Amino acid sequence: MALLGAGAYGAANAFTSVAQPAALSPIGNQGVSQQRLRGNAQESNMWSISGTTLSGGAAAVAAMGLAQVASKAATKKRANKMSKVVALQAYNGWEHCAEYKEELLATVKAITTPGKGILAMDESNGTCGMRLEGIGVENTEENRQRWRSTLLGTKGLGDYCGGAIMFSETLAQESTTKGKSMVDLAKENGIIPGIKVDTGLVPLVGGNEGENWCRGLDDLKERTTEFYKQGARFAKWRTTVRVRNHSALAVKEAAHGLAQYAAICQSSGLVPIIEPEILLDGEHDIDECLETFEETWSAVFKACADYGVMLEAVLLKPSMVTNGAQSGKKADPETVAAYTVGALKRVVPPAVPGIMFLSGGQSEIEATLNLNAMNQSPNPWHISFSYARALQNTTLKTWAGKDENAVAAQAKMIQRAMANSKAQLGKYDPATADEDASAAEGMYVKDYSY
Ligand code: 13P
Repeated sequence: MALLGAGAYGAANAFTSVAQPAALSPIGNQGVSQQRLRGNAQESNMWSISGTTLSGGAAAVAAMGLAQVASKAATKKRANKMSKVVALQAYNGWEHCAEYKEELLATVKAITTPGKGILAMDESNGTCGMRLEGIGVENTEENRQRWRSTLLGTKGLGDYCGGAIMFSETLAQESTTKGKSMVDLAKENGIIPGIKVDTGLVPLVGGNEGENWCRGLDDLKERTTEFYKQGARFAKWRTTVRVRNHSALAVKEAAHGLAQYAAICQSSGLVPIIEPEILLDGEHDIDECLETFEETWSAVFKACADYGVMLEAVLLKPSMVTNGAQSGKKADPETVAAYTVGALKRVVPPAVPGIMFLSGGQSEIEATLNLNAMNQSPNPWHISFSYARALQNTTLKTWAGKDENAVAAQAKMIQRAMANSKAQLGKYDPATADEDASAAEGMYVKDYSY
């Protein structure tokens, strides 16, 4: 469920909050303060606010709530007079992206429509080449164009995928349909074009052996401005943190890069997908993964607050909380869901509208089952998919590089997207899904890169 829509901010007085104290810090308890800004304080929220367990701004909100009960009529009268002034003076979180506010919210709303996720097809030329070579197809620009045109040209895909993340080559490319760009093809199919904007991982000097940091900030403002002109409306930045033996510096650096990227994207009209991938590589168990997940995401949100990122206009792309690939243990979907959603609830403010998971080498069926399990109980977000490998595998094998297979491949694309759409709604049933054998193939690759 999308918590927000463009409409929620449409009218100036929808932005008011009777109980909003003027001095609420945008950093401490950000989720609470932003939730409060969404509408009238009399609306329901996801908390039972007692006032005794909250601190800072949140406690002030709760205390004011109690005061309201005591003198309801008087408060209402006063609030009617003051609310607009107080809220507008107290909060200018959209300042860095004011001209794009409505568009950013509309993009988020479209992508987080119930039943929708994202098709990640933003592999760099090298990684896309590995996939193509896996089906015996040479890694040329033309073959990448044929493959990506097959994906984006899938009729009806926009019913299940609100957006597609592209590599820069694809965003600027013509499709195989004469006179039609890839951007046109996507839009015609109801798919919002997105763009990978990080420029890849390099060794983190000062970190532990083998750790990386993610580059791409230097000219990001210029590049995002250009990507917007080319038609992109959202972006992705993937960095990584490993579970065992990660340094505090790696977490700090990942958080800083993601937050600065997110603020810059918003200022250019692109909704940032924030992706600190907690690597599957390793012998760690699920509890260790959980610890690193919470440590990293907490740092990311602290950094986002420092950079003034508007959480209502971001999407997250986490990895699921699982055992390490070399641990010899596999958790069932219910366990993965309990760990992952539990962790999200502890570290992700409900102001965030959508959480779109990566598949990280899981098989197509496993990724769908895990998503389905996460959507069995209520949560404050739109929990969905932004899979690459777990959306493309069977389609790629069916296509096999041959134009005459394109229609059959596109049918597989729809089948997979539909299965994940059902999982987003918590309604995927493996018994009736008629899955291909290839959908059960694991796709984990050690030290995988994009
Ligand atoms: P996978 O689903 O293959 O892990 O890809 C995730 C990703 O980050 C692509 O954008």
